[in-house]
Amino acid sequence: MNTPIVILNYKTYSESSGLNALKLANDLKSAAEESGITMVASPQAADIYRIKKETSVPIYAQHIDPISPGGHTGANLIETLVEAGIEGSLINHSEKRMQLADIDEVVQLCKKHDIVSCVCTNNINTSKAVASLNPDAVAVEPPELIGTGIPVSQAQPEVVEDTVNEVKQLNKNIKVLCGAGITNGDDMKAAMDLGADGVLLASGIIKAENPKDALLDLVSKL
Ligand code: G3P
Repeated sequence: MNTPIVILNYKTYSESSGLNALKLANDLKSAAEESGITMVASPQAADIYRIKKETSVPIYAQHIDPISPGGHTGANLIETLVEAGIEGSLINHSEKRMQLADIDEVVQLCKKHDIVSCVCTNNINTSKAVASLNPDAVAVEPPELIGTGIPVSQAQPEVVEDTVNEVKQLNKNIKVLCGAGITNGDDMKAAMDLGADGVLLASGIIKAENPKDALLDLVSKL
């Protein structure tokens, strides 16, 4: 994982679904080219193949199920997602929570398929717990700040700082990201000053009038 990194979680907003998902991927690609900062799209599973086919933006899935090929209706199979073009995946997002044993299984699947595993957590303790699974990255996001526009890096700096310290103490190679309410350049700079390797964000960019300008502003103070 190249850092600093910006991962844009598309979730299921209409502004980031279907053709809008492709438009947003092009914004990510040009903002990344202009700024030199790595920017990753994390669209819904149904939009992955089209984005891969029509852009060169790196893509992470939003979720992978702890399964192998077979009878699992409605599930996200890693083999299919890799074939569609993902380079990594979010795991255990607050809006798609998993049990620890399942997180472990998906981290192992990501290693097997040589893609990036980015495990989301809700606080310092869960960050420590998942760090012991040795994912590539841990992204801490206090759920109460998600979608509020109140940036974790400024409202709860201790969550970011302590997560960085605890995770790096266990394994200094694990990247630590933070998310929830991150919107502008000040928010991302604050995160990086606290030791984070990047940010995971959604509504501040997806709902912006001009997402490309918002992305350029996000990384303008690095
Ligand atoms: O995964 C990113 C996310 O949960 C943060 O959402 O809208 O507060 O940037 P948002």
